Amino acid sequence: DALAPQLEAARTEVLDDVKLWNEGGKVPTEKDPLDAGFLELPERLLSEYRSKGDASELGRIITCGNRLAEAVDRVVVLGIGGSYMGARALMEGIDHPFHNELPRSQRNGRPRLYFEGNNVDNDAAQGLLDILGRDQKATGVDDSWGITVISKSGGTLETAVAFRTFLAALRASCGGDAKRVADLVVPVTGESGKLFDLATALGCEEMFHIPDGVGGRFSVLTAVGLLPAAILGLDVVALLEGAAAMNERFRTKKPGDNPVLDYVGVCHLMEKDHGALIRVLSVWDKGLEALGLWYDQLLSESLGKHEKGATPLTVVNTRDLHSRGQQHQEGRRDKLITNLIVEGHQRDAIAVGKSDFNQDQLNTLADKTVPDVLSAAIQGTNKAYADDKRPTTNLRITHSDESAVGQLFQMFMLATVVEGRLIGISPYGQPGVEAYKKNMNAILRATSMAIELTWLGHGSWS
Ligand code: PA5
Repeated sequence: DALAPQLEAARTEVLDDVKLWNEGGKVPTEKDPLDAGFLELPERLLSEYRSKGDASELGRIITCGNRLAEAVDRVVVLGIGGSYMGARALMEGIDHPFHNELPRSQRNGRPRLYFEGNNVDNDAAQGLLDILGRDQKATGVDDSWGITVISKSGGTLETAVAFRTFLAALRASCGGDAKRVADLVVPVTGESGKLFDLATALGCEEMFHIPDGVGGRFSVLTAVGLLPAAILGLDVVALLEGAAAMNERFRTKKPGDNPVLDYVGVCHLMEKDHGALIRVLSVWDKGLEALGLWYDQLLSESLGKHEKGATPLTVVNTRDLHSRGQQHQEGRRDKLITNLIVEGHQRDAIAVGKSDFNQDQLNTLADKTVPDVLSAAIQGTNKAYADDKRPTTNLRITHSDESAVGQLFQMFMLATVVEGRLIGISPYGQPGVEAYKKNMNAILRATSMAIELTWLGHGSWS
């Protein structure tokens, strides 16, 4: 209760950021880029879709997803950080856990999706190239593939190097058919920049833009996340509706009935008054690990500034109870554990069942199901923490579907910017990430110069 007025003031500031920015009343600066445009996106995209249909941004995204799904059997999604993690969270959180392994008929005719350009890993990239069709004309549709390349700035080295590599492979596999390549490469980028120029030179059939005022890690509900989701045939309208519903609660409800403000309040008080500097997101569903990693990035890049900001850590349980569990139960008292619990399950419950081979002595549990075992694990773990006065809090969703994931995305993004305003840190921008990029580029350019000079010195360079 004592924190409620501060939480409400932080909410007002966040809402004002959007309003003032729209009206040009508050000028973005390097220190505070005010990338609050993510907030209104769900409603804006939905209302434009309802009035303009296929001609709207969302309509174009859905149509493009369907077109690619018909044209190819595999899509490589290139991007890193905010241009990668949300799409992966959508695929793993909502789609079939073995989507890429299923025959096409069981994937609703949707392509397999692979993520690359999210690291610098020679063997991983070569491994993916190994499984991509080398000659689409000769092998036909089942071996065909395409590329979605995502980079807001259009200049991120990891993505750019990967695009060069995969584009060369795609051009080879299309037998030099430039029109087909232009059809099968869909870039998502800014309205200008290196990727924009390259895509224009390639004559890409379609291109999507990340709107101004939407920061990279806040861009999952733009084409950055929506296009890969549409390629997979996920219900992007339900996703945005979920996010819009969260916005509504955020705007109108008081602390106590406001998931965003309540979550921020608990995290903030636990950090300030009880030294809970580590925020463990304990997901009780394997498919939500990628959503946890998306949140790790969101929190780290947004609030890890000026020697402040809690450290996020995603764990998957019960898996990690057998690794990190010991430390969380008896280690330093520096953690707040937030359980993310999915109450339902989308597939039939597996029963433990009776067996003639009862050496494992499980026949006494024959009538229990896997969800029963999970439920006991959640209760048992929470009780063990409570008995030792280890703080936990719960976030519950009914199903891991588009609507719930849309709500979670929006809730975490709103919570992050509210907390930033509460503790006086601009949640936008990530100046710290630039340091490694500057060094990496300087080292690369210095070594390529040195190689060039060596060759020149030997007189064998032509
Ligand atoms: O949040 C951010 O802005 C970053 O994580 C970016 O998403 C990431 O660095 C990738 O940038 P870009 O989309 O410009 O390639």
